[in-house]
Amino acid sequence: SNPSLLILPGDGIGPEVMAEVRRIIDWYGTARGMVFDVSEDLVGGCAYDKHGTPLHDDTMAKAQEVDAVLLGAVGGPKYDALDFSVKPERGLLRLRKEMDLFANLRPAQCFDALADFSSLKKDVVAGLDIMIVRELTSGIYFGEPRGIIEEGNERVGINTQRYTESEIDRVARSAFELAMKRNKKLCSMEKANVMESGILWREVVTEVGKDYPEVELSHMYADAGAMQLTRWPKQFDVIVTDNLFGDMLSDLAAMLTGSLGMLPSASLGAPMANGRPKALYEPVHGSAPDIAGQGKANPIACILSFAMALRYSFDQGAEADRLEKAVEAVLADGKRTADLLGEEGVQPVTTSEMGTAILEKLDAS
Ligand code: NAI
Ligand code: MG
Repeated sequence: SNPSLLILPGDGIGPEVMAEVRRIIDWYGTARGMVFDVSEDLVGGCAYDKHGTPLHDDTMAKAQEVDAVLLGAVGGPKYDALDFSVKPERGLLRLRKEMDLFANLRPAQCFDALADFSSLKKDVVAGLDIMIVRELTSGIYFGEPRGIIEEGNERVGINTQRYTESEIDRVARSAFELAMKRNKKLCSMEKANVMESGILWREVVTEVGKDYPEVELSHMYADAGAMQLTRWPKQFDVIVTDNLFGDMLSDLAAMLTGSLGMLPSASLGAPMANGRPKALYEPVHGSAPDIAGQGKANPIACILSFAMALRYSFDQGAEADRLEKAVEAVLADGKRTADLLGEEGVQPVTTSEMGTAILEKLDAS
């Protein structure tokens, strides 16, 4: 049977960028004979409007069954005053939690045509292509005890960094698997010099590494890693790190490459019966209410998220390359959505014009 894909466009620019992905999915069906069983549903504010909940149980059940979920973005000012329990982002959090998506993949890839857009010097970032794997479901954001307590005559804010061996093992395995599909080079980052969880992290990652003898494994303290990422990021290929360090390092790495409108992500869980990992793909950006409904949104982050789905859920690495090359070619032609414009007076293209340009490159590929 055909691979299945659940599409959740969400709110704001979500539906606008997803419309361009739908055209690309259709292209793969007609031009490459790769037909997906696509179903579409609601998440976030739009789901709340219809069902009174940001993620209906039926949608959750569907997400558990399909080969991959592709999400646009959720949220918007209309929903800011809602009760915490029904806020749009709760829909997304429920998906991540119930699908148990413990490995968050954030590529930092610099297309040559956009190298000037980076906050760093062009030669430092041109051709950059690295991947940060962040543990997403444990660590200091979730560890107990937590809270603000009274101690003596003042208050104390408490969070606990906590990692079990199995939590480290599974995210390490995801990272090694990824390294095997890429350049067989993995750097693990923690603070084993000052943190017990860091010592355990290093031990477990080293142990898992014995199952992947072809992968060149190195270790780095996360603070030194931050320095190296800005000094010479091309020394890295895959980086694996915990939830807190991964949060910061992946945001840092994102800015090596420019606009929020360009950044895809994947969140992967355990393998399903068919061997594919549970998977949710989504752009890093949010619903961008300031530009929603104006045809200004850059669809590339969402399109590259679909490319990640091709590579990591559907084993179509060559087709993912084809799509990424089409994006690169359009950028090399000078086509820019408004978020990618520098000072000079280049005329921006609209969301759908960008989609059309990418489809033309696919046709020519
Ligand atoms: P945002 O990512 O939506 O927007 C930040 C800035 O980047 C805005 O100026 C926006 O116009 C621009 N931008 C973002 N994506 C773009 C794209 N594809 N093309 C062109 N420009 C783009 O973050 P913000 O403004 O903090 O949040 C807006 C709403 O989105 C909030 O309700 C927030 O809760 C939600 N949000 C949702 C996320 C998700 O669904 N995963 C992630 C982050 C925020
Ligand atoms: Mg962050």
